[in-house]
Amino acid sequence: MWGGRFADGPSAIMREINASIPFDKALWRQDIAASKAHVAMLADCGIVSKADAEAIASGLDRIAAEYEADGVPEDWDLEDIHMTTESRLAELIGPAAGRLHTARSRNDQVATDFRLWVRDAIDEMDAGLTGLQNALVRRAGEHADTIMPGFTHLQTAQPVTLGHHLMAYYEMLRRDRSRFADARLRLNESPLGCAALAGTGFPIDREATAAALGFDRPTANSLDSVSDRDFALDYLMAGSQCALHLSRLAEEMILWASQPFGFMRMPDALSTGSSIMPQKKNPDAAELVRGHAGRIAGCLTALMMTMKGLPLAYSKDMQDDKPPVFEAHHLLGLCVAAMTGMVADAAFDRARMRQAAELGYATATDLADWLVREADIPFREAHHITGAAVRLAEGEGKALDALTLAQLQAIDGRIDERVYQALSVEASVAARSSHGGTAPDQVRLRVAEARQALENGS
Ligand code: ARG
Repeated sequence: MWGGRFADGPSAIMREINASIPFDKALWRQDIAASKAHVAMLADCGIVSKADAEAIASGLDRIAAEYEADGVPEDWDLEDIHMTTESRLAELIGPAAGRLHTARSRNDQVATDFRLWVRDAIDEMDAGLTGLQNALVRRAGEHADTIMPGFTHLQTAQPVTLGHHLMAYYEMLRRDRSRFADARLRLNESPLGCAALAGTGFPIDREATAAALGFDRPTANSLDSVSDRDFALDYLMAGSQCALHLSRLAEEMILWASQPFGFMRMPDALSTGSSIMPQKKNPDAAELVRGHAGRIAGCLTALMMTMKGLPLAYSKDMQDDKPPVFEAHHLLGLCVAAMTGMVADAAFDRARMRQAAELGYATATDLADWLVREADIPFREAHHITGAAVRLAEGEGKALDALTLAQLQAIDGRIDERVYQALSVEASVAARSSHGGTAPDQVRLRVAEARQALENGS
């Protein structure tokens, strides 16, 4: 493409290090769409003839059909998807192909293609995350009253409901989706027409190409447009945050499915066996979701390091922008799909969860709260009295509500028999009815709101 300036061709190493076609062929649909928008605009503005523009557009359609049928050919000499397509166009329609690149450069071309690709990736991710939210909301509705231990420091803290726990992840994903949506808003400006770095002297219409490609408007600064990749970093940041959320859910399900917990069984379809231990059912999919979160965060770091310290405008380092985004998108898509299957088909063991909720003096706070409410004891003192009751129960190897009234009254005479009503795990969760609390009624309210929001597409 630049033979005029060079006496010798590139060395084999130059060809290899320079080639982005092995990965940027993934942009072919966007590249063709952007070229078609560009050439239509060039014709409308009288910069190329209608006849040439029609030949170019139908040539591009034919190339799209070839790519669809046979894949994109990988010739390192052609470096990237842009030159691969342009050279095929020249084979198909002859010298008129050379007019397509009027008033544009690969710098605005690649920025445009990549924004379009990331925009599609965001839309795809939003659909996947909505599916996972639907699964969470459905299971949360089924388990609004299922009692399980709630932990802090992974030590039994207070009983909670499984529905409440699952809805916690619904909320995380709601914010993840809003981060992706926010990234999409900022991304949706068209760099096309910024040319190499300074704009162009041709009388182009950037509004027209922006509109044709579904962008909200053209970008405002040509240097910025060809040299920033913050839209890709926004995607990776939202994706990394989302991967961290999925990784925590995966980790919890790994714990819950382990024999000492026994809170759930993993779906067979998302588990593997062991080659040596016949009894094993391993939560490999969940472990890989946990593992992939690290790789996704690595993709974010990779692109941040690529961009750090680059002077304006385009530098070839920026060709390395695409592999981490493609990789992260692929991995995150797998993670979302795997978690959706796990949430949808996990077999929860209500009895086991309830039993576990009764261990570890999970209702000790309820005893303290009762002392505050019914005996008007300051919370600090109530905390102290409850501590003594727990110590006694522990010494006797009993649950709190298995202590006799005489034993409780020996600790504090203000305790009476009504206290037993407060000490059951059912009473404990039902009492936590503050907005956003774990009480089954609260969970049902949140589930109903979430269903409504999902129906409205938010
Ligand atoms: N293959 C290049 C990339 O992906 C296209 C842009 C090339 N621009 C240039 N000035 N060499 O970044």
